[in-house]
Amino acid sequence: MTYPVNMNITPDVQAFFDDATNTISYIVKDPTSDACAIIDSVMDIDYAAGRITFDHADELIRQIEMRGLKLEWIIETHVHADHLSAAPYIQQKLGGKIGVGHKITVVQEVFGKVFNEGTEFQRDGSQFDALFEDGDTYMIGNMQGFAMYTPGHTPACMVHVMGNAAFTGDTLFMPDGGSARCDFPGGSAEELYDSIMKVLALPDDMRLFMCHDYGPNGRDIQWETTVADEKANNIHVGGDKTREDFIKFRTERDAQLAMPKLIIPSLQVNMRAGEVPTDKDGNPMLKVPVNGL
Ligand SMILES: [Fe+2]
Repeated sequence: MTYPVNMNITPDVQAFFDDATNTISYIVKDPTSDACAIIDSVMDIDYAAGRITFDHADELIRQIEMRGLKLEWIIETHVHADHLSAAPYIQQKLGGKIGVGHKITVVQEVFGKVFNEGTEFQRDGSQFDALFEDGDTYMIGNMQGFAMYTPGHTPACMVHVMGNAAFTGDTLFMPDGGSARCDFPGGSAEELYDSIMKVLALPDDMRLFMCHDYGPNGRDIQWETTVADEKANNIHVGGDKTREDFIKFRTERDAQLAMPKLIIPSLQVNMRAGEVPTDKDGNPMLKVPVNGL
């Protein structure tokens, strides 16, 4: 298998864990320049109070400023349903282009309807600066990255490979965490299995960085593993687990899962590249579609 990036480059990866949503955000730095990217930032929300704050994003910004880095990309691996993106807030302070998978248009179509957004909500991905297609490459300083299309958890999921590091989004969890659910609109256990196999076809020593970890069985939070480790030990797809095993298990498990606590605000914000929607007077306002999900 040949890939469009030089995998002998080792980017510097700094991880930031958000305990409110179990999300890991990353600053990824080109080893030969000051250029960096942020993967999957988090905007803090107290949903009960309707209050949004920026402690997590401010920490990313502070680190980038302190290290004298230049932010070139703010990448979303997918439209998250469990946390809100802080991409526009970070972009306003530090610049950089906000990028997501081009199938964002499918997500916007589905949830534009669910939230009855009307015609002013564009469903063409134009809220983002870049829409990645499978195999698209981009530069972070002198380091090349590429986007690998990995649908299944959602129709817009991408895994981003930069040098010898891959950012898996929700396509994989740590080996003892397995995989993410596939029952959101446009999700598919069959597609997720095939996408995971694409990721596990990367070189064995490729470093994999997760978007989430829940510390299964009481272990400490972790976010980094390798392709070899996932192939051997992932509890949903590793060892001798077959595609059929996975699809059956995933479908049965998903049928029992409750909706993520923040799915309603997350989708409305994240399908707009992290912008909070506004009402007719321009006030930030979120909706709750009753029996709509
Ligand atoms: Fe997700």
